[in-house]
Amino acid sequence: MGGSTGKDVEARTVVFGITGGIAAYKAPLIIRALKGASLNVHVVMTEDARHFVTELTLQTLAGTPVHCEMFGNVNTQWYEIEHISLADRADLFLIAPATANFLAKLSCGLADDLLSCACLATRAPILVCPSMNVNMLTNRATQENLETLRRRGVHILDPVSGELACGWEGAGRMPDPERIVAEVKKLLSKGDLTGIKVLVTCGPTCEDIDPVRYITNRSTGKMGCAIVEAACLRGAQVKVISGPVALSFAPWAEIIQVRTASQMLDAVMEQLQEADVLIMAAAVADYVPSRYSSTKIKKGTKGTTLELSSSPDILATIRPQKESKVFVGFAAETENIRNYAQEKMRRKGLDMIVANRVGTIGSGFGSDTNSGVVLSPEGVLYDFEHMAKDTLAHKILDFVKERL
Ligand SMILES: Cc1cc2nc3c(=O)[nH]c(=O)nc-3n(C[C@H](O)[C@H](O)[C@H](O)COP(=O)(O)O)c2cc1C
Repeated sequence: MGGSTGKDVEARTVVFGITGGIAAYKAPLIIRALKGASLNVHVVMTEDARHFVTELTLQTLAGTPVHCEMFGNVNTQWYEIEHISLADRADLFLIAPATANFLAKLSCGLADDLLSCACLATRAPILVCPSMNVNMLTNRATQENLETLRRRGVHILDPVSGELACGWEGAGRMPDPERIVAEVKKLLSKGDLTGIKVLVTCGPTCEDIDPVRYITNRSTGKMGCAIVEAACLRGAQVKVISGPVALSFAPWAEIIQVRTASQMLDAVMEQLQEADVLIMAAAVADYVPSRYSSTKIKKGTKGTTLELSSSPDILATIRPQKESKVFVGFAAETENIRNYAQEKMRRKGLDMIVANRVGTIGSGFGSDTNSGVVLSPEGVLYDFEHMAKDTLAHKILDFVKERL
């Protein structure tokens, strides 16, 4: 797949190994999420995994037969050496859950069943998701096995803490299917932004009037969040400065939470030095209350007038520190979007501006898609109409990459 417009994990093959831990009950959800990411999935189960989840469920969701036995297809007309063909067709091996027993086998290089044999035979990266009772996990044998695997370049997604199926509390839970598939996508991405430090601002700002009320805008942070995820997946080191949003950011990003435009300015000033790229996707307040009342403004019979002042202009303030950094701005407009955006790009000295249409269905605040245009000082880079924000995020990063 050319370029890296978020499609570079498409048509890749994941060999999904399931071992006999209780978290195998989540395996069908993992398959759904892998398929949702347009990945081909081939399932291999250990003999003991069959106690926890049925082949029928797995193969129905995967759309391919489940592989279980080392010597299962001897009498079939069509024959291939299954552990080798699985090993060769994989772009990635995912083992979830990975039992203590399986980790021990993998670290010793045992090959006494189909899954362990295929893992030994593959040249593809291996991601394991250990999941077990907390005492099994912290046992020195398991810890040393994990250490050996890590040293050999096996990727390990650490289990999370919480209530365990066995009744104990502690580390040992398998992460959620979405988290596992995010890691798969990252490992399969071509990492073309590795080594690049990207700073993203995101969401709205909230400007307090009194302890009860504030001024904000309709930004939900979805576009910024999509950029953060896309940049992380492509290997960038990402920091996000976010106003109040109800979204979860990609697990690899460092998040700095702010509330007001002036806090956002301070955070940008603090973080900018280290960044190679700044993407200002936040909808920063243009006006803020001139005064903050520390007590609730009481409802009066004659009403009240709210006096507003201009908020700090973040881009104008940081412009002297631009140096060779790539600055990308956003403009949210209801009309005349190209002209307004062009003017903003020129005024703020940006390398690029993403002008998006707001106030219509399927674009702008809160929507999963966006319409508008990406402009550079040389002219129009890209016109987009109802484009998924995650696809647009990759497109924007493609243009950023060209300017690095
Ligand atoms: C109800 C039950 C739940 C189990 N859950 C786990 C588990 O979460 N993690 C683990 O490492 N072993 C667990 N085991 C033990 C494994 O099933 C056992 O070690 C088995 O031999 C693993 O085989 P496999 O690694 O080939 O799949 C469990 C056993 C039972 C009976």
